[in-house]
Amino acid sequence: MCGIVGYIGNIDSKEILLKGLEKLEYRGYDSAGIAVKNENGVHVFKEKGRIADLRAIVDLDVMANIGIGHTRWATHGVPSQVNSHPHQSASGRFTLVHNGVIENYDLLKREYLTDVSFVSETDTEVIVQMIELFVQDGLEVVEAFRKTLTLIHGSYALALLDARDNETIYVAKNKSPLLVGLGDGFNVVASDAMAMLQVTDQYVELMDKEIVIVTKDEVTIQNLNGEVINRSPYKAELDASDIEKGTYPHYMLKEIDEQPLVMRKIIQTYQNEHGELTIDREIIDALNEADRLYIIAAGTSYHAGLVGKQFIEKMAKIPVEVHISSEFGYNMPLLSEKPLFIFISQSGETADSRAVLVNVKEMGYPTLTITNVPGSTLSREADFTLLLHAGPEIAVASTKAYTAQIAVLSILAEVTARSRGLKVGFDLVKELGIVANAMEVLCDSKELIEQIAREFLSVTRNCFFIGRGIDFYVGLEGALKLKEISYIQAEGFAGGELKHGTIALIEEGTPVIALATQESVNLSIRGNVKEVVARGANPCIISMKGLNHDEDSFVIPEVNELLTPLISVIPLQILAYYAALHRDCDVDKPRNLAKSVTVE
Ligand code: F6R
Repeated sequence: MCGIVGYIGNIDSKEILLKGLEKLEYRGYDSAGIAVKNENGVHVFKEKGRIADLRAIVDLDVMANIGIGHTRWATHGVPSQVNSHPHQSASGRFTLVHNGVIENYDLLKREYLTDVSFVSETDTEVIVQMIELFVQDGLEVVEAFRKTLTLIHGSYALALLDARDNETIYVAKNKSPLLVGLGDGFNVVASDAMAMLQVTDQYVELMDKEIVIVTKDEVTIQNLNGEVINRSPYKAELDASDIEKGTYPHYMLKEIDEQPLVMRKIIQTYQNEHGELTIDREIIDALNEADRLYIIAAGTSYHAGLVGKQFIEKMAKIPVEVHISSEFGYNMPLLSEKPLFIFISQSGETADSRAVLVNVKEMGYPTLTITNVPGSTLSREADFTLLLHAGPEIAVASTKAYTAQIAVLSILAEVTARSRGLKVGFDLVKELGIVANAMEVLCDSKELIEQIAREFLSVTRNCFFIGRGIDFYVGLEGALKLKEISYIQAEGFAGGELKHGTIALIEEGTPVIALATQESVNLSIRGNVKEVVARGANPCIISMKGLNHDEDSFVIPEVNELLTPLISVIPLQILAYYAALHRDCDVDKPRNLAKSVTVE
């Protein structure tokens, strides 16, 4: 949540900062701002709305070789021009951008800043005012910065400008992601390498509670005791074209269409020279040593975890629990004797999941992260990582990462099963290949799915998804996709559970999307459809070839029954896309959301 950028070098910084913020807009987009500094002082431009709104108010005549910027997802204080970043200290000497949440900001305000009149409602303003206070008390800027950091509790990625210093950006991080990018005669700061790929692919990772003094020629990392830390840069393995929309109208549509390719990439990457699926022996040993696996995730990744549980239990015969990370944090179940924790996270930055990771690591338990972002916090901090290889996912609504998570979980289950001498009864490489082909067929069926979206979703205010077994989990994901981008109230239910209350919600014309991809429950889910139809529902049955009936609205190609979530979700993603489009919603940047949820 929130993205920050910074530039210090030899050329004008405004366009670099604005372009960087455009790339970070997925992290928050309710307001944005930049502060640039030249010989005349610090110039702040900030605006409620998107980066395009900010662009419109930036004075192009102001030339400045040093600057910081921010795109906001509001936590403290409504989205407004005043609450948007950068924030300045009372005298205007210090200017700060912040991603994160300061938990004790109110306490600090009362303890240190009773004489200061605050302009905004943000926690961030407290930080910048404290830095100024400590400088007024006689500390050097870096000491004041350090002292402030020792007093604030919570998460932060910070970039600070001092109006009296043309040479430096001060940077620090704790729990929120932040990187320093290295260039020839310039250096940059960014929440995500994508933002500054325009100028460099060389990055230095920062660890929690580090301060960095960034000048155009030097980057000095210190810990909170002032000790200098040396760390080598790495090359960001990102292709600039991966993060462009190309000819697509929306990232979401592009990412839906990329799924067959991602599937093939995953099969290829996880295969050894004999064509067998393979995963690091250490990871498989860790799974085999555990008596129970705990999958921890949020949102779409949680839904992928529910499917993954089926794979691991059915193929590898290890019991699995799946938990929502924000709940697990304070409501930990009784753990087994030898648990292994698996964190599923597209971004690798989700604060709720990270809080659990930190906690279980302290308890001494082994941890594995399944993520799309190498070098992300969850990847760095877990004992083991498995990568999704899905390429950057920019649209806020997750699509290709979900199917990549499920594919990687199927491979994890299969390799573990084989290591235990268990037979899964099918060739997963071949079956995933069939899935990739089926995905292609579905991506080519957009017209028909758009028609279904018109028929079922154009005027409705709500929609239900039903399924049994693995179809129920896909229904949960279908409902999440639809609600988050089209704002139609959508819920997923287990077919058999309807009669225990939910069926009361069915009215004349209520769309009910039923998934029928599992032979063992095909007739029972169709029975549930009859129940809702009898109460006026407008049914849309999505079935799998071989199990289809005449009345079905859409039939997906036949794949291995266990792997159906990989393809049954695609018509649901496309339905959500068109439902949102027909309602004039902002598909890639739905209201109130952000891609990377780095606050708890
Ligand atoms: C929904 C969506 C979210 C994320 C959730 C977890 O489309 O993208 O529900 O799945 O915020 O994010 P990650 O996977 O990055 O931990």
